Amino acid sequence: MNPLNPPITDWQGRSVWLIGASSGIGLATAQALHTAGARVVVSARKAELLQQFVNTHPGAQAVVLDVSDSAAVHQAAQHIQTEQGLDVVIYCAGHYKPVRATDYNLDEMLRHQSVNYVGALHMLDAVLPPLLAQGFGHLSLVASVAGYRGLPQSLAYGPTKAALIHLAEALYLDVSAHGLGVSVVNPGFVETPLTAQNTFHMPALIGPEQAAHEMLRGWAKGAFEIHYPKRFTRWLKLMRVLPYRWYFALVRRATGL
Ligand SMILES: NC(=O)c1ccc[n+]([C@@H]2O[C@H](COP(=O)([O-])OP(=O)(O)OC[C@H]3O[C@@H](n4cnc5c(N)ncnc54)[C@H](OP(=O)(O)O)[C@@H]3O)[C@@H](O)[C@H]2O)c1
Repeated sequence: MNPLNPPITDWQGRSVWLIGASSGIGLATAQALHTAGARVVVSARKAELLQQFVNTHPGAQAVVLDVSDSAAVHQAAQHIQTEQGLDVVIYCAGHYKPVRATDYNLDEMLRHQSVNYVGALHMLDAVLPPLLAQGFGHLSLVASVAGYRGLPQSLAYGPTKAALIHLAEALYLDVSAHGLGVSVVNPGFVETPLTAQNTFHMPALIGPEQAAHEMLRGWAKGAFEIHYPKRFTRWLKLMRVLPYRWYFALVRRATGL
């Protein structure tokens, strides 16, 4: 079968902007890409953590920003474009707090939307025109299997990830004919600061380095969706097609919620 995207097998010299790279999956991916020879620019809010990355990864750059600040995202994109060009943009910024409807919190609902979804729109607004003009490049959005279907504790987080998956699908249909690749990354449970707050057992938990490895493998294959670990995500994909009556019963039984 033909790959859906131009496969990225050689990272040597490629300019990669990783947004949400101060910790967890983004940081591990930045490390892996740097090792593979990419010219990596890392962004997030925590300047010290980004500087640590730059100090230990020769040639890497840091651009501190908050993804909710559209002007800052635009400025960063322009800076990178001018300095070293832009080949690949990976949107990994994410916010997660468990929220249930019985403890509804509008601020949390909107914060999830701002970081997980609207930030990605700011990024697209800044990078789509130059990428379309140059006629090559790759956009990767890190969503989540929590975006497949509704889950308990996921009232704020889940819908933003569903939106990202949908956004990536529509984006693919629009830009692949213009030479651009688009991928969506749907991780299961990965051990990071984001999941450290979870008190429940996380099935098939993997480390961030393994997550990064899976992502590089997916980009090398030219995959549209990169999901991992398969021993967990395959079940969730199966649950995606169940009728609601069965799906709700199964989720209740599996989570006890
Ligand atoms: N861990 C999992 O099991 C899992 C599963 C599925 C999907 N994901 C997704 O994977 C991505 C990475 O998460 P992670 O698990 O690696 O957690 P993490 O270590 O907490 O990473 C989140 C990243 O997002 C950045 N970020 C948060 N708010 C930001 C803002 N307003 N502006 C700019 N950057 C911001 C954080 O940096 P600063 O705090 O420095 O800004 C950090 O670099 C997220 O999109 C998450 O939803 C994770």
